[in-house]
Amino acid sequence: MELNLNFVRKQFPALSGEWTYFDNAGGSQTVKSVVDRISEYLTTSDVQLGASYEISETAGKRVREGYRFVADLINARDVSEVIFGSSTTMLLRQLASSFVQTLSPGDEIIVTNCDHEANVGGWFNLQKQGIVIKFWEINQASLEMDLEDLKKLLTPKTRLVSLTHASNILGTINPIKEIAKIVHQNNSYLCVDSVAYMPHRMPDVQDLDVDFYVFSFYKVYGPHYSALYGRKEILEKLPNINHFFIQEDDIPYKLQPGSANYELSYSYVGYRDYLGALVKEHFPEIKDPYSRESFKKIYALFAIHEAELTQRFLDFLNKKKNVRIIGRPDANPDKRVSTVSFVIKGVVSSTITKKVDDYKIGIRHGDFYARRLMDALDYSKTDGVIRVSMVHYNTLEEVDRLIAVLDRLF
Ligand SMILES: Cc1ncc(COP(=O)(O)O)c(C=O)c1O
Repeated sequence: MELNLNFVRKQFPALSGEWTYFDNAGGSQTVKSVVDRISEYLTTSDVQLGASYEISETAGKRVREGYRFVADLINARDVSEVIFGSSTTMLLRQLASSFVQTLSPGDEIIVTNCDHEANVGGWFNLQKQGIVIKFWEINQASLEMDLEDLKKLLTPKTRLVSLTHASNILGTINPIKEIAKIVHQNNSYLCVDSVAYMPHRMPDVQDLDVDFYVFSFYKVYGPHYSALYGRKEILEKLPNINHFFIQEDDIPYKLQPGSANYELSYSYVGYRDYLGALVKEHFPEIKDPYSRESFKKIYALFAIHEAELTQRFLDFLNKKKNVRIIGRPDANPDKRVSTVSFVIKGVVSSTITKKVDDYKIGIRHGDFYARRLMDALDYSKTDGVIRVSMVHYNTLEEVDRLIAVLDRLF
């Protein structure tokens, strides 16, 4: 069974244009069903929640449906474990501002030098409040996070370990379940940034056994809006960062100050519509096209297709003597997602991306806000790496077109 790309691409209005989108790890295209839900909300239920009149009740139901879907998508135990916010960066800062109130000076937090700064900065700033920040550094030879290095950093004072599920530069998938085990054996919490993972795979926060898990819809075929999962027992204990009269047991509200964006909260139900439509298209025999089990089948098709795209592109790069792939050189879908970064010996990365622009192919260079990783690998001075980030709606023809262009450039 193969992903029906004609069907897939028809669901994304932008894909009928002349551009090829290979900057998906920066932001993916939005699926039409998500746009429709935003429009439906704003044209038929754009009122404040919580009143007794009918439209307000409809609005509340719609917003709750958005939370319900995200809880189902990541397999949260309870819908109250999902907090919505403007961005992953902001949600993590909100979390840090509450979490720090449970800490004492001298307590330790471990962050990595491989993450996007969103999952470092908020924690790093807690140094000002006497929290000790330790860096789990990437193994420069293997470009992997070495679990033995983590074990050496953990102490009885470690309260939290924070890292990314998949690197937005390397594409490498970190073994979160294994890491959660190590972190929990030390009685610490694990916070995972899933922004670069969620466009490619469907996680299960219960199976992964993570404590906090965060992602942004705009990289997963939706609008600029984000969700943070927190394990219920922990959220219940975290101090309120909302108004003083919000109750301590009012989760997620006590950690989500201000009104949620109602139309964007509801919009994500449109991603469920899309996944359900894909199930119906590919597995018409399935009775419940909207269940997690059905969605898993679609994500399996995504993974196979993305691995094919990645392998094609990596085969090209692997043949080039002057190229260093910054990440795994193979497309094993258990180990990496379809985000591929590379540098060319003696070439400043920006000179390549600018030339590719002319062919109406969107790729990108830079540090992608993983500045510490770029500094560690010493690529900050050469305009960072060139990144080609593919998702399930890209085609082999698009990859071949990019290869043909790049082949002329280096
Ligand atoms: C891995 C990763 N984490 C976090 C972020 C930041 O997300 P947001 O813009 O929602 O704060 C990004 C954005 O590029 C990212 O790639």
